[in-house]
Amino acid sequence: MAFAEDFLWGAATASYQIEGAKEEDGKGLSVWDVATGKDGLVKYNETGAKAADHYHRMKEDVALMKEIGLKAYRFSVSWPRILPEGSGAVNEKGIGFYSDLVDELISNGIEPVLTLFHWDYPYALETRGGWLNKDSSEWFLEYTKVVVDALSDRVKYWITLNEPQCSLGLGYYYGKHAPFRKYTVPEIFKMGANMLLAHGKAARYLHENAKQKVFVSMAPFLIPFLPMDDSSQSIEKAYRDTFHTEEMWFIMSTAYWSDPVCLGHYPFDMEEKYRDILPEFTNEEWKLVKEPLDFFGVNIYQSNGKKTGPDGYPVNRFQGSPHTDLGWTVSPEALYWGTKFLYKRYNLPIMITENGMSEHDWICLDGHVHDAYRIDFMQRYLTELKRASDEIPILGYMHWSFIDNFEWAEGYDPRFGLVYVDYRTQERTIKDSGYWYKSIIETGGKML
Ligand code: GAL
Repeated sequence: MAFAEDFLWGAATASYQIEGAKEEDGKGLSVWDVATGKDGLVKYNETGAKAADHYHRMKEDVALMKEIGLKAYRFSVSWPRILPEGSGAVNEKGIGFYSDLVDELISNGIEPVLTLFHWDYPYALETRGGWLNKDSSEWFLEYTKVVVDALSDRVKYWITLNEPQCSLGLGYYYGKHAPFRKYTVPEIFKMGANMLLAHGKAARYLHENAKQKVFVSMAPFLIPFLPMDDSSQSIEKAYRDTFHTEEMWFIMSTAYWSDPVCLGHYPFDMEEKYRDILPEFTNEEWKLVKEPLDFFGVNIYQSNGKKTGPDGYPVNRFQGSPHTDLGWTVSPEALYWGTKFLYKRYNLPIMITENGMSEHDWICLDGHVHDAYRIDFMQRYLTELKRASDEIPILGYMHWSFIDNFEWAEGYDPRFGLVYVDYRTQERTIKDSGYWYKSIIETGGKML
């Protein structure tokens, strides 16, 4: 069993979670800038205003990536840093920052993987109706054009939307993420349709206008069901449950997003249930939505435990079962079955765009961060990914996260990084897991 020679061993971050520099160099505000720091919406009223100060420490951070031996780095561009009003005037200094980052990565032999939208939606556009506005997909296209024209000479891997399930579901239905709203189901469907169109327009623009051959995907999350035993019936059942849109409720399901994009129709169970309120796309619009992807980016952290078993526990839990600091089940097989199920349904090479765990890491008396659990977690998950890569094409693995960061409504308590940050001083320390990952990368995963 082996990973491909050119496997992208990487790590990931997102702009609002690490950059800070909230209003510097002409940056506009995002919905996260506006909603945080007050009203108790985020734990301890924490904000991303400074975060890990990456905006000022970009070169130091790329040097740390190099020390860990990363072959790829997935980051996101802050839309309001590029277009402070979301549309209209372009902020050249904002573009300059990402252009320098890309240059720094390339000169250190690290492949950039760029996400266009990782949730920091421009506040100015939110006041104009945001994703509910019929022009919203055009606004996204306008922003995409600026980024593609500036960076596609050097960036080959592109992600349009990160986990649209969360930006829409948590942001506008459950009211748990910025802008902390609660819209009705028909409104959610309209917004979802605009986001699907935005994705399609961006993907089409990339394919037609990028300055080199590019590889484009979306990055939804998947929380797969695992087969209860080895029988083909159990495997088939786990597959069906994984893509059944009511298992996660439609907004949070993967199929709601990926069936339209990859198969050109809404999931059949949704069509049946929501026939009367599902927005129609014209044939031209469907063609955009299903602009062919070049790979399937996916964030997988854990298996699904929604169903309650006979003993009262969800199917992926038992008394005292292992879980991370955020309560997420440690379920390495999610990487094996999740990728296999996605390949079966969508038939695209797969990139793990996020996987990792939160812990209460701290600096030990000897000055190191001994995160043994994270090493064990990564070893288990990567071993399952290796098993999958024997059967289906897997392009890369982006560990979440490269560095400790602002974990949305949970603030800075959960630490996900390979690199520890003391937020009082911004001092960085590579954790034991970072050094362990380095040895895995150096041997191309053969040590697993
Ligand atoms: C994902 C998200 C990331 C990060 C991670 C860990 O849902 O894309 O931004 O927060 O989860 O919770």
